[in-house]
Amino acid sequence: RIIHLDGAFVPAADARVSVMDRGFLFADGIYEVSAVLDGRLVDNDAHLARLDRSLEAIGIPNPHTPADWARLQLELVRRNGLVEGVVYIQVTRGAAERDFAPAPDLAPTVVMFTQAKTIVDAPVQARGARVVTRPDLRWARRDIKSVGLLAQVMAKREAAAAGASEVFMVEDGLVTEGGSSTAFIITSQGAVVTRPLSNAVLPGITRLAVMRLAADEGLTLEERAIRVDETYEAEEVFFTSASNFVVPVVSIDGRNIGDGCPGPRTKRLMALYVGLAR
Ligand code: PDD
Repeated sequence: RIIHLDGAFVPAADARVSVMDRGFLFADGIYEVSAVLDGRLVDNDAHLARLDRSLEAIGIPNPHTPADWARLQLELVRRNGLVEGVVYIQVTRGAAERDFAPAPDLAPTVVMFTQAKTIVDAPVQARGARVVTRPDLRWARRDIKSVGLLAQVMAKREAAAAGASEVFMVEDGLVTEGGSSTAFIITSQGAVVTRPLSNAVLPGITRLAVMRLAADEGLTLEERAIRVDETYEAEEVFFTSASNFVVPVVSIDGRNIGDGCPGPRTKRLMALYVGLAR
């Protein structure tokens, strides 16, 4: 596989980063994930805008313009022959003597790689995902797409041990978001509900696209926090992300959602999103 590292395209075995990189020592960096479908990037301008916002928030200069980023991403997609999957971008503050306060003039480390993945016809689309809830142990700036993901790793390990493929993270009895996705419910009144944007959640790119599709479908949208017990009672539950699009949830904490099968409106939103992405 071919990796992009600091302006060069190199075989994975030759892609080396310093052990003094601040990403490695401090998780001092951010990342972004864009989907690739039919060899094309999905909603990529929005992902690059969020990349810029994450960098701005932690004071790392953006090393590329959006046009340059997109050119590099597409070159990487081409070199890896990627048809369906994701492009991962990571920017860390760079390598330096270990010191909490960074020197102002560090050269950021840029790493990009692709991952092939079946998204549209993934088995989880037909089967539906099992979800468990766990306390949200993360920091107070979850709107920044930080590479510091230990809380998610811990929660995802617990989810996997419980036979679930995603975790809904909970704070004060309210769902913040999925471990790597945005959580939605559809109520018995037919309202599509997701948490409003704040420092408590990542502003999901797929979230916004799906909200627009739901509105176009004539569904009522409610942006408010969702109680855990509401998820158990919901007509339908789903989560969204660049790496999975719209995933139906069939159980939460072992309780079936509806009849325990992927819901019709969730399937419709997935079909519409795929239509948009193609
Ligand atoms: N994760 N919330 C969290 C905590 C996430 O990590 C993600 C995405 C999302 C969904 O955002 P988007 O629709 O823009 O992908 C919400 C990516 C896919 C990842 O970490 O691999």
